Amino acid sequence: MRVREIWNLITLRRRTTSVIQTVDHARAIAKKKIPKAVWDFIDGGAGDEQAIAANRHSLNDVVFQPKYLVDVSKPDTSLTIFGTPVSHPLVLSPSGLATLAHPDGEIAVARAAQGAGAIFCLSTGSGNSIEEVGEQSQGRLWFQLYLWKSQDVISSLIQRAQTSGYEALIVTVDVPVVGKRERDLRNGMSLPVTIRPGQYWHYLSRPRWVSGIVKNPAITFGNLTDIASGDDASSIGQYVNNELNDPSKTWDDLKRIRSQWGGPLLVKGIMHPDDAKTAESIGVDGIIVSNHGGRQFSSVPGIATVFPHIRDAVSDKVEVFFDGGIRRGEDIVKAHALGATAACSGRCWFWGLAANGEQGVTDVLEILNQETKDTLSLVGQRNLRDVGAHNLYRS
Ligand SMILES: Cc1cc2nc3c(=O)[nH]c(=O)nc-3n(C[C@H](O)[C@H](O)[C@H](O)COP(=O)(O)O)c2cc1C
Repeated sequence: MRVREIWNLITLRRRTTSVIQTVDHARAIAKKKIPKAVWDFIDGGAGDEQAIAANRHSLNDVVFQPKYLVDVSKPDTSLTIFGTPVSHPLVLSPSGLATLAHPDGEIAVARAAQGAGAIFCLSTGSGNSIEEVGEQSQGRLWFQLYLWKSQDVISSLIQRAQTSGYEALIVTVDVPVVGKRERDLRNGMSLPVTIRPGQYWHYLSRPRWVSGIVKNPAITFGNLTDIASGDDASSIGQYVNNELNDPSKTWDDLKRIRSQWGGPLLVKGIMHPDDAKTAESIGVDGIIVSNHGGRQFSSVPGIATVFPHIRDAVSDKVEVFFDGGIRRGEDIVKAHALGATAACSGRCWFWGLAANGEQGVTDVLEILNQETKDTLSLVGQRNLRDVGAHNLYRS
C-alpha cells in the first residue's frame, strides 16, 4: 500500500474516484483520501469506542418479518416532519468542521442535501458560517446549538440562525464535558491543526487534500470568528476549549432557549426516559435519541436498544429521531419500525464529503434513498409512514 502511495506521489498520478456503491464504500474511499488525523477525527469515538460498536450491534439485532404479494411498485420514502413534507428519509446530523474533510465543507453538504430534498443540520462548530451556508443553499436547514457558558453567545447564535432562515433549532445536551477521544489526543488533533514530526507522511501521502487546504481559507470555526477574542484559528480553538463546556447547565437553560426560539425546538443527546419526559414538559417539539455517535463516552447502550424506551416515555406530540449507527437503507426502515419520525446520521455524509465533495454526499444520499425504497418493498410496505413494530420479528 505504502509503495503505491509513494508511486502516486512521485508521478502525481490523479487517482480516479471509484463510483460509490455503499456508505461503507464511501468510508473506504474517504480513508484513502484524507490524512490519518482527520480520518480518526471523523471515524473515532470516546474511550474504548464500545458505543460506536453498540450502535451497530443494536441495529443488527433488529430484524424484519417480511410480507409478500403486496403492490410495492412505488415505494415512497418521503416523510412529514413538524407538519412539513420532506422528500429524503435521512436527516443529516450536525457534525462540526466539515472543512477538514473537504475544502467545500458544509456548503457542499447543504447543496447536496438540497438536491436530495433532505434536511441538513448545521453544527455550531461548522467550518462555514451560519450565514455562508444560508446564502449558498436554498435547501431545508436546521441549526444546532451547544450550551455555551455565555448566555450572550447563545442569544447571538439563535438570532443569527433566525435571521438566516434556519427552520428548527437543536440543542445538544450531552456535552457537559468533552468526551475523551483518544485517537484525537494521540494525533494531537486540535485547532489550529498542527502537524507533529511523526505525521509528515500522513499528510504528504494525501497531496490532493493538502492542495485543497492550501487553496482555501484556514480551517476554523466559521461561526465563532467574531465572538472569540481573535479571528485566528489558535484564538478560536482556545475560545472553544474555555467556553464550550459548562457543566453547570440545567433544564432551566433549555427553558430559557424555549422562550427565545419560536420555531421547532429539538433536544439532542437524550438517552434516559426521565429526560425525555422533562424535555416534553418544557415544550420541546422533538427529541433526538443519540449518544453523539459514540463520541462522548463508551459505556452506553446502542440507540436501537434505548429508542423504544424514549419513544414510550413521551406523547405522540413529540417527534422522536433516531441518531447513531445508521449506515444503510435497512437501518432507516428499522428506525421507523421502532417508532422514529426520521433517522439521522453524521458519519454517512461526512464520509461522502471526504470521498468526493458535494458529489460524494449526493451519491451517499441517493444510495440510502434507493436502499430504503428496496427495503420497503422487501418488507412489504409502500411507505415509511406505515412501517411499525408489526414489521419486526419478535422471537
Ligand atoms: C466528525 C463529527 C463531528 C460531530 N460534531 C457534532 C457537533 O458539532 N454537534 C453535535 O451535536 N453532534 C456532533 N456530532 C455527532 C452527530 O451529530 C451524530 O450524533 C452522530 O454522528 C451520529 O452517529 P453516526 O455518525 O453513527 O451516524 C459529530 C459527529 C461526527 C462524526
